Amino acid sequence: MHRTADVTAHQPEKDRMRSFVIGGAGFIGSHLVDRLVQRGPVTVFDNLSCGRREFIQPHLTSGAAQLIVGDALDLDHLARSIADHDTVFHLAANPEARHGLLNTRLDLEVGTIATYNVLEAMRRNNVYTIVFSSSGTVYGETDQACAEEDLGNLPISLYGASKMAGEAMISAFVECFQFRAKIYRFGNVVGPRGTHGAALDFLNRLKADPSHLHVLGDGRQSKPYLFVTDCADGILFGLDHTPPEQKLAVYNLAPPDTTSVARIAELCVHASPNPNAAIHFAGGDRGWPGDVPRSRMNAARLKRLGFQLRMTSDEAVTAAVSALAEQVFGPPA
Ligand SMILES: NC(=O)c1ccc[n+]([C@@H]2O[C@H](COP(=O)([O-])OP(=O)(O)OC[C@H]3O[C@@H](n4cnc5c(N)ncnc54)[C@H](O)[C@@H]3O)[C@@H](O)[C@H]2O)c1
Repeated sequence: MHRTADVTAHQPEKDRMRSFVIGGAGFIGSHLVDRLVQRGPVTVFDNLSCGRREFIQPHLTSGAAQLIVGDALDLDHLARSIADHDTVFHLAANPEARHGLLNTRLDLEVGTIATYNVLEAMRRNNVYTIVFSSSGTVYGETDQACAEEDLGNLPISLYGASKMAGEAMISAFVECFQFRAKIYRFGNVVGPRGTHGAALDFLNRLKADPSHLHVLGDGRQSKPYLFVTDCADGILFGLDHTPPEQKLAVYNLAPPDTTSVARIAELCVHASPNPNAAIHFAGGDRGWPGDVPRSRMNAARLKRLGFQLRMTSDEAVTAAVSALAEQVFGPPA
């Protein structure tokens, strides 16, 4: 019921969407590009710091998409590139919240300032529709299942803070310059082409040392995990189904259930060449300062519009570990 409208390449030119995807060579971005090419021409703008050309290569080869290698911190390059598009998807960011502990300017630059640059580049070119990838980290630490209107707890990581700053700036551009915006607060996104995250980290550790797996925290941290194709479908569903009079829409995008870190570790060990590897937990209730150990999200707003996820959190993690294990260890013998 939730699938996005079947839009083919045979539409009249005037009805085709000209998408500009910042961070489109990355994990989530490349899955989104897989869908956007059905709606019209796509430009991917990516500095390839984390993303990979090969993720979008079929669309580059077919001519459905073009890649501009550029940095969102270069406002003039971004502004020149954004001209003649109509919808901007902004997915570029620091890939790992914990990197903000090592470099405290990172989220300010690739999060907050890059998001300002995107909005300003759009404003200069009269491009007014933005889709922003925010995160459940904006809710900070709470034991409640957070709904969109529950922003009572402020973020506790520099990454989460930069997402919140980005959302606030988007709201201001909507009000001051007549932008239209969709903001998505994702749970933890997992799946094939993953570039970071706990499962990939565990699998890489098991490749380096097949005898044991060292896990940060006590393993009881638990979060909602969203399969990446559900993520891309949810983004487009919200884009297609938000009432046209609503200028700014904010959606949680996550399953209602959660999966523990211990469960992810077990699945990774099981998928590794040594399913008897021992798991050692470092202890403590969280992986690192700023990590929210237990989070749940309420995505009823998108559901009320008719969107349904295909996978629960556990199903998403199981499918992702199997895809990532193949990425790390090669196809099963
Ligand atoms: N993966 C998750 O679990 C998750 C959860 C919540 C929110 N998000 C958000 O979704 C978005 C996409 O995440 P992802 O998991 O696909 O990460 P990713 O790192 O795979 O993708 C980000 C892409 O942006 C590019 N990029 C980074 N900085 C750039 C810059 N300054 N200029 C141009 N390109 C730049 C990278 O090369 C990469 O291709 C991010 O904004 C992230 O914060 C992700």
